Amino acid sequence: MTEPHARHYIDGHEISGGQLVNLIDRAEELKAGRPVEGGGTLAGKSVAMLFEKPSTRTRISFEVGTAELGGHPVVLRGSEMQLSRGESVEDTARVLSRFVAAIVIRSGSHENVVALAENASVPVINALTPEFHPCQALADLQTLKQRFGKLEGLKVAYVGDGNNVARSLAIAGSLTGVEVVVAAPHGYQLETEVPATLTDDPIEAVSGADAIYGDVWVSMGDEETAEQRRADLAPFRIDGHLLSHAKQETIVMHCLPAHPGEEITADVLYGERSAVWDQAENRLHAQKALLEYLLGT
Ligand code: CP
Ligand code: NVA
Repeated sequence: MTEPHARHYIDGHEISGGQLVNLIDRAEELKAGRPVEGGGTLAGKSVAMLFEKPSTRTRISFEVGTAELGGHPVVLRGSEMQLSRGESVEDTARVLSRFVAAIVIRSGSHENVVALAENASVPVINALTPEFHPCQALADLQTLKQRFGKLEGLKVAYVGDGNNVARSLAIAGSLTGVEVVVAAPHGYQLETEVPATLTDDPIEAVSGADAIYGDVWVSMGDEETAEQRRADLAPFRIDGHLLSHAKQETIVMHCLPAHPGEEITADVLYGERSAVWDQAENRLHAQKALLEYLLGT
């Protein structure tokens, strides 16, 4: 039997605050195009990327990032794997570990990602489950560092559905000295164990915040309750009125995909205070640094 690999990135607690700060610094170096010795830190290594759910940013940034580091991305969809015909996650982990240096997986089942990691002898990276989106949080930290030159002492107000993105932001923030306040209506709030300040008042949340953060109201897997969600979350839209209660220099973040006019108005999403497009780009740099860190290259 192969030994499980110690270095996974599944719920965001696997990397300490100090290591996260180093990782973000490395992501900035990679962004600046600092030359990489030896023709690429992932030279000769393949990375499997298994996407059981749609993705634009995560899949493409992992694929491009692996190639830019000299590695070989192997992009897989659940429907084309024997997984779809009943092969177990555990056996899939054992077999992939014989071929590749790391496994990236987006799944509708967090338990399956955990099972994959427990049975893989190479690092496993969570590319989004209904519970966590730790890779997004890396890019979020990098964006905050770029805009404010520091992380420690910042305040981010997440406004909307207390979901995977909010949870991972709170975890990454708590590890790096960023206060995360989550404003969500009753029934949509994060559990109290999450290291964030929880409120149902968006105006209170954005008061004094350095960044206001939004995500979709209907996450992947929530489609059946879409109508109810849109009704319940309507008072939590990120718009000019909400921004008027924040500081003049407060930036706006969103993990994307966005629905302009729904959880965020178009004038805010495309406005001068939006950091959203840099934030999307940072997925590439942060995940390259993550791959290097987990592979020890
Ligand atoms: N933000 C994010 O994870 O986007 P994708 O779903 O396009 O990967
Ligand atoms: N909360 C969203 C994030 C998409 C990147 C979802 O899980 O669908």
